[in-house]
Formats: sequence, structure tokens, C-alpha cells
Amino acid sequence: NELGLVAVGFSGGQCKPGVDAAPMALIESGLVDQLKDDLAYNVHYDNKVHAYGDLIPHDDPDHRNMKKPKAVSTVTKQLSSQVYEHAKEGRFVLTLGGDHSIAIGTISGTAKAMRERLGREMAVIWVDAHADINTPETSDSGNIHGMPVAFLTGLASEKADAPFGWIQDNQRISLKKLVYIGLRDVDRGEKQILREHGIKAFSMHDVDRHGIGKVMDMALGWIGSDTPIHLSFDIDALDPMWAPSTGTAVRGGLTLREGDFIAECVHETGSLVALDLVEVNPSLEEKGAADTVRAGVSIVRCALGDTLL
Ligand code: ARG
Ligand code: MN
Ligand code: MN
Ligand code: MN
Repeated sequence: NELGLVAVGFSGGQCKPGVDAAPMALIESGLVDQLKDDLAYNVHYDNKVHAYGDLIPHDDPDHRNMKKPKAVSTVTKQLSSQVYEHAKEGRFVLTLGGDHSIAIGTISGTAKAMRERLGREMAVIWVDAHADINTPETSDSGNIHGMPVAFLTGLASEKADAPFGWIQDNQRISLKKLVYIGLRDVDRGEKQILREHGIKAFSMHDVDRHGIGKVMDMALGWIGSDTPIHLSFDIDALDPMWAPSTGTAVRGGLTLREGDFIAECVHETGSLVALDLVEVNPSLEEKGAADTVRAGVSIVRCALGDTLL
């Protein structure tokens, strides 16, 4: 049970400070000790929250409507190789963010490692209130945390010398192997992309209609067995009742148990190779921060094999 942990204190994919403090808050609440002692993982961790200060340029003008393009590009490129190094050793990779732009780094790293180690294309389960599939052109905000899926699937791309031009084909994932759960705030341009490409998505409407049990059966059925899975979990998938301390909270979300259940089901497949936990921002809601951190810890534990009985 080997696990690589990467703590990413990065907030440059959006505008609110504080999301960089999440890894420390999660670790201080005992997450790493629990992984070692309760779940018996051998944890490979450099005991450092990476802020990548040396990679962040002073001059970083908007590019194609993207805010802080150079910072996000260089940080995610570095993170990609960190994650890749763990994954190629056969370790489960747990990344604690940070905002969701960091998934450009984590998923590109695992996608490449899975191709090399298993000769397989990896699937991604993206649990989120948002689709994060804006291209720089469809985005209203210019915040790159709303765009990672577009870069990872090749819907958005750049020339080699431009931001995100470092992403190679073997670091990308197929639109066919992408499944969303929990969507409820999808921008107009994003809806068009989801429809046009027939992307598998279970919105909160689907969770209401079928229940989370059936939704998980359908989501995992779409992926099929024997496919490595990367779970990218945005804490704002949960209802703000359970996870209020996040930058783009949207009401009408998953319950705490539904979030944990998703993580448990993905663990049970035996195919989970990596998990991102992102968008916890302990500085946003004084009263809700502890609950939000606790919800994050719980999701990680469930995804790593903690059981109720
Ligand atoms: N769709 C909005 C945007 O493009 C919100 C994205 C929120 N993303 C997130 N990772 N919380 O800016
Ligand atoms: Mn979100
Ligand atoms: Mn919106
Ligand atoms: Mn997100």
C-alpha cells in the first residue's frame, strides 16, 4: 500500500486567497497520520507544502483572456512531473490543493504514467458543482480553475512556446473516458461543449431522480472495469451546508454522505489510482472552515478504503 502525497499550496487559478492554506489545514487535522495508522499506507511525502514561489513570474499578463497564464502553466507543469514520478513507481497519488487548476498537473501526470505502466487510457471522474471545461474563449471569468478539463482533453490547446503548450498527447485524457457527478452551475458555453461531444455527466437532477447509488452504478458502468481511474474531487460538489468554505459555493449540492459514498464506490472498484482534493479555502468562512476541512478529510479517507463497518 504505497501512497505518494503532494501538497499543493497554489491559488493562482482563481482570485481568492486562502485556498493555498488547505493542504496544511487538512494535514494538521490529522489526515496523514490517519492514512498511516488507520489505513496502513506507506506514505511518501516530502513534508512540504509546495508554493512554487520560484516558478511564479512577476510579470504575467492576461493571455487569450486567461488570468495568470504563466504562473498556472509553470506550476502545473512542475506538478505534473511530481505526480508522474509517484505514479510510475506504482504509488497511489493523493494531491491536496489548491484550486482546481492544479488538476492540469495531476491528471496529465497520471495519464502519462498509466499509459506507460499499464498501456491503458485512464478514466477521470470529476466530482464538482462546475464542469471546469471552459476554453479560454468561452470563459467569462478568465479564471483558469474553470478551464482544466478543456486543456486536459485537448479542447483547448496552445503552441509549444505558449502557456500550456507543454501538454503532450500522452498526458491527455479522452472525452469518452470523462464522467461528471454533481454538476449544477454550468456556463452556457460549457453546456454546448458537453452536448456537442456527448460527454457523460450526472447533474444534481440525476442524483435527485435516481439516487446516488444508481448514479454510481451508471458512472462506473460507463467507464467499465479494468480502466485506471483518477478521481478529481472539488469540495464545492458538496452542499454549502457541509462545505461552506470554498471559493465558488453553489447551493443545492451533494450531502456529506453522498460525497463519501461516491468516494467509497470508486475505491471499491479497485481501479482508483489517484485522488485530488481541491478548493477547500479555510479563510473564507470563519465558522464553516473546520466543517469544510473535516468533510475533505472524510472524502479522502473514504476514497482510500475506510469503511463504516
Ligand atoms: N464556471 C465558472 C468559471 O469558469 C466557475 C468555475 C469554478 N471552478 C472551480 N474549480 N471551482 O469561472
Ligand atoms: Mn467547483
Ligand atoms: Mn456560473
Ligand atoms: Mn472544480
